Amino acid sequence: MIDELPRDRLGRRLHDLRISVTDRCNFRCTYCMPSEIFGRDYAFLPRAEILTFEEITRLARLFVGLGVRKLRLTGGEPLVRRDLPDLVAKLAAIEGVEDIALTTNGALLRAQSRSLREAGLRRVTVSLDSLDDAVFGAMNGVRFPVARVLDGIAAAREVGLAPVKVNMVVKRGVNEESVLPMARYARAHGLTLRLIEFMDVGQSNGWRLADVVPAAELVERIAGEFALEPVPPAYPGEVATRWRYADGAGEIGIIASVSQPFCGACTRARLSAKGELFTCLFAASGTDLRALLRGGASDDELVAAIAGRWRARGDRYSELRSAETTGLRRVEMFAIGG
Ligand code: GTP
Ligand code: 5AD
Ligand code: SF4
Ligand code: SF4
Repeated sequence: MIDELPRDRLGRRLHDLRISVTDRCNFRCTYCMPSEIFGRDYAFLPRAEILTFEEITRLARLFVGLGVRKLRLTGGEPLVRRDLPDLVAKLAAIEGVEDIALTTNGALLRAQSRSLREAGLRRVTVSLDSLDDAVFGAMNGVRFPVARVLDGIAAAREVGLAPVKVNMVVKRGVNEESVLPMARYARAHGLTLRLIEFMDVGQSNGWRLADVVPAAELVERIAGEFALEPVPPAYPGEVATRWRYADGAGEIGIIASVSQPFCGACTRARLSAKGELFTCLFAASGTDLRALLRGGASDDELVAAIAGRWRARGDRYSELRSAETTGLRRVEMFAIGG
């Protein structure tokens, strides 16, 4: 195997692996898979193209050998992949994994929380962009009701998938008025709200800088109602900037990928549903690990491919913002995993 853990060109280690288990989703969020583009006849990956649980587990084990300690399952919507708890159980059995989390839209959480928990999942992050059905229904693209997401969150908590974080993507003029109601709700219910600046990921979401509500403004809005104090990062390179309520009622996180990029300590690799390794959320292309897997590569060959790709990595897209990638087709978020 390998003697030394790989560092990339900027000295960053590999610590997190985000695994997209499917490119499909039961929602059509405007900022991710707008329904005008991803309609009924959109061709998602056929089953045979998607990594099997055995293939994912084998790769995850090799990534752990290269320094990965934290796994996050994403999609598309990970819970639309059949038998996901079986994958969680396989991943939980890998020695060296310290944390397994899941990012979900919550629609199928009531049905699956218990089996996910029993399989070894530790915690979930649920996406919810408003408590107002008209606003949320328009943003999720399928008129999915708020109450059912809240029920999914409740189900996760009942089985001990806690603490639950709630991801809210904020778009100017669309759901900015939902920020305070969400903050009040999260505070009152022991949830950690994370406000995410709308990002220019993919090619399809019509991103404009004018649609971004900057982090500083988000903090100001909340601080106008509740006193906030800064909290130091839980780990180096944490995606969210944390703030705690001065009265002790929990904390919020702000994910300021646009206004305050955090590439300097980015230790995240992404594995797409069809087995490509991406070293940046905004990458135009990945390394085809599936071809190696299915071509009979040994563990050592796979490790060499992954470590070599990591060492060659110099990504810092959010810091450069498009200057370098103009003209390249950025991969869609649902293909690579949030
Ligand atoms: P914790 O383990 O709870 O700290 O999770 P996390 O901070 O990794 O959070 P999560 O996976 O929920 O990510 C929240 C959101 O941050 C994602 O959905 C993305 O929108 C964004 N995000 C996550 N990782 C990156 C990244 O590497 N680059 C950029 N630009 N955005 C990211
Ligand atoms: N900008 C910011 N966040 C996004 N997400 C998806 N697309 C975008 C975008 N364009 C978030 C979702 C979810 C996670 C998977 O990524 O809200 O919380
Ligand atoms: Fe689906 Fe999540 Fe994308 Fe929304 S953000 S369309 S829930 S994958
Ligand atoms: Fe990492 Fe790329 Fe996100 Fe920067 S933009 S934090 S390099 S994934």
